[in-house]
Amino acid sequence: MRTSIDGASQVLRPPADGLPFLRHDRAASLRSDPGSLTIDGEEILAVESDAGAARRIDARGLAVVPGWVDCHTHLPFTGWRAAEYAMKVAGRDYAEIAAAGGGIQASAGALAEADDRGVLDQAEALAAEMLAHGTTTFETKSGYGLSIEAELRSLRLAAALGGQVPQSVSNTALIAHAVPGGFDADGWLDAVEASLGAMLECAPVGALDVFVESIAFTNRHLERVGALAAARALDLRAHVEQFASHRSVPVALAAGARSVDHLACLAPVDLPALADSECAAVLLPGAEVMGAEETAPARALADAGAIAVLATDANPGTSPIISMPLILGLAVRRYGWTAKEALLAATLNPAWVLRRSGEVGSLEVGKRADVLVLDGPIEQVPYRLGHNPVAFAFKSGELVFARPDCADRLSE
Ligand code: NIG
Ligand code: FE
Repeated sequence: MRTSIDGASQVLRPPADGLPFLRHDRAASLRSDPGSLTIDGEEILAVESDAGAARRIDARGLAVVPGWVDCHTHLPFTGWRAAEYAMKVAGRDYAEIAAAGGGIQASAGALAEADDRGVLDQAEALAAEMLAHGTTTFETKSGYGLSIEAELRSLRLAAALGGQVPQSVSNTALIAHAVPGGFDADGWLDAVEASLGAMLECAPVGALDVFVESIAFTNRHLERVGALAAARALDLRAHVEQFASHRSVPVALAAGARSVDHLACLAPVDLPALADSECAAVLLPGAEVMGAEETAPARALADAGAIAVLATDANPGTSPIISMPLILGLAVRRYGWTAKEALLAATLNPAWVLRRSGEVGSLEVGKRADVLVLDGPIEQVPYRLGHNPVAFAFKSGELVFARPDCADRLSE
């Protein structure tokens, strides 16, 4: 079916077609002129209206933007950890909570107790909530298994989730998240290395990930995960500089990482090389706020021309947030970013992290029609903090979400 989205006040477009990513010092070159958009089948047919379209949306006063790409989540997981959040708010730190049996171990326990249907029910419900907030592509991670068998299961569940939801889904094997009981860190990576082939058969995996922190793995393990990724032609992603600075960024860059994620404690001396590199800086302001973490040097990263990205980090511990509009709002306030900087970090650049920017992440003729119609101008996305601005969402040309109060704008 052909859909014409007519007369929007703003259509968010890249400065040129075919860009794999846009460095953040160029975010102001995103265009947001008035216009229209036509979707045909699964693709964007034209950046103009179509008189013959069978379905029309009256977008006067509204904005049209690409569907959000949430390139860092920990779906699928089971249950929540609200009691831990109360402890955190009362002043206990992450390491203390982990030592008391909370943290990643607690979610691994919950995953072990749940049956597959229960895990998928929760993940599918979250994916539906994400879709209603405009996320049309997301990443999954394993890492709550903490045994080889459970990691294999986690990857199988991630693959099953990808087959069940409307979104495009990219799977990451977070092979070094916490050191499982009965192993030391090296021993765990030995076991992972021996089973990596089996893991990669469980799901179409695009990247390996590792958590570098005093309570988790070290830079030496980051190098080792990098070598495993390179040997399998997978991308390397890494959770680094979240609670403290371990100078992991130069190590990740040397290992050819596709992204370094968190960066709340990025050492200033490591910023220029990251900004110059083809490695994305994935910032997670939800985790920063919920965990009262330091603030990533996002203004400086953007000014220095980093490939900056925002994501929810959706997980039961540090960031139980699924809403990208909320993340954009937190980022603008916390980082001193413009709305366009936040939008770029939620669309084209995260699509590049997932190697999907040829297909999604910007409104270009021939790209997949992952399109949001927002209920007001783009500047309101960060400003109306907590509000869901999505009036209509299209995934691959299909209308997958329509807000009842906007129904009179749709005609078929
Ligand atoms: O990205 N930092 C490590 N991993 C997750 C948190 C995991 C958890 O607490 O369950 C994160 O913040
Ligand atoms: Fe994470």
